[in-house]
Amino acid sequence: MAGIIYFDNAATTRVDPQVARVVQGAMLENFGNPSSPHTLGLEAERWVRQARDEVAQALGCASDEVYFTSGGTEADNLAIRGVLQARSRKGKHIVASAIEHAAILETLRLLREAELCDYTLVKPDAKGYISPDAIVNALRDDTVLVTVMAVNNEVGTIQPITEMVRLVKARDKAVYFHTDAVQALGKIPCRVGDLGVDLLSASGHKLAGPKGVGSLYCRDGVLLASQITGGGQEEGLRSGTENVPGIAGFGRAVALAMGYMAERVDRWRQMQERLLALLDAIPDSHIHGEPLANAPHIINIGFRGVRGEVLVHALAGEGLFVSTGSACSSKRASQSHVLAAMEVAPKIAEGSIRISFGPENTLEEVELAAELIKKTVAELRRFQRQ
Ligand SMILES: Cc1ncc(COP(=O)(O)O)c(C=O)c1O
Repeated sequence: MAGIIYFDNAATTRVDPQVARVVQGAMLENFGNPSSPHTLGLEAERWVRQARDEVAQALGCASDEVYFTSGGTEADNLAIRGVLQARSRKGKHIVASAIEHAAILETLRLLREAELCDYTLVKPDAKGYISPDAIVNALRDDTVLVTVMAVNNEVGTIQPITEMVRLVKARDKAVYFHTDAVQALGKIPCRVGDLGVDLLSASGHKLAGPKGVGSLYCRDGVLLASQITGGGQEEGLRSGTENVPGIAGFGRAVALAMGYMAERVDRWRQMQERLLALLDAIPDSHIHGEPLANAPHIINIGFRGVRGEVLVHALAGEGLFVSTGSACSSKRASQSHVLAAMEVAPKIAEGSIRISFGPENTLEEVELAAELIKKTVAELRRFQRQ
């Protein structure tokens, strides 16, 4: 991508050319319907099966525990709505962290409005960590599900999911545990056996795969009610003709991300270290959370005296792409619910930006980006004072 620096990979990534070729192959040549009994159909079915194997391999689960969806949002919806419906005899209470993605928080809010669920939100500490004890303390007899994201999309905090699951199951093994691993897959190990989770959401477009495709891991034996009914595809859990190009591309993207993970994490850590050192030198800058101890691809930093969205636009004008908070909420000019939950002072929160690395970024880009940010923050502050 000549001439621009794209540091907004937590919003979305450019599709890997190898993935794009697979997607194209599934559109132009292997265009059959996986439900058709003829050879074209069988070939399409084989591509879907291969993708399921690739995702299962990354998660360390059985292939028939992977269900394809239209992305992370649908996977999160399916987990919440599917468990509520299937476990209504136990209750309708859910425990979630206060820093979940809107796919979780909005779903919970709407379900409560419709009196279909009740929920407790657990706040993080000032660094963005959710305490496993606080999760357990929020459990009730009628709790059916705990949902805590593996990696936060705004500040990159890695949550102690394994420990949470252990404590939750020790208290009540009938409670299911879901994790939104949309920002985690390809960045940190996400083997479901190690995490201990029952349900896990993933999305293609955060790891150089296509948009509009993702998956829900559902452990064998977990009760989940289908939310999209029809022809009975995906073992009856998610009807609708499979998005074969998307699914095949997603599978390839996951396989590539796993293959390159060690090399990329090394590179991202170096980039993170360098960028933090350079940005920290800007007067009155505030790094949120503990980036070096967390996800390797995310940095969130606030600059007093500037507005995040103004900074984002000014930087885009110079060819540097970053974001304020999460992509889906950043078009609304509201304050980040994640920084608010971490009790970041509003004056700092409103001047915060998220910088997120992807497969193609380099250390040289970090040097250029830091210079641009330093210059632009100084200009905006000068302007503000006039
Ligand atoms: C943590 C998290 N969960 C869910 C989603 C939604 O995924 P999708 O865009 O595939 O619907 C996102 C995307 O921004 C995310 O960052």
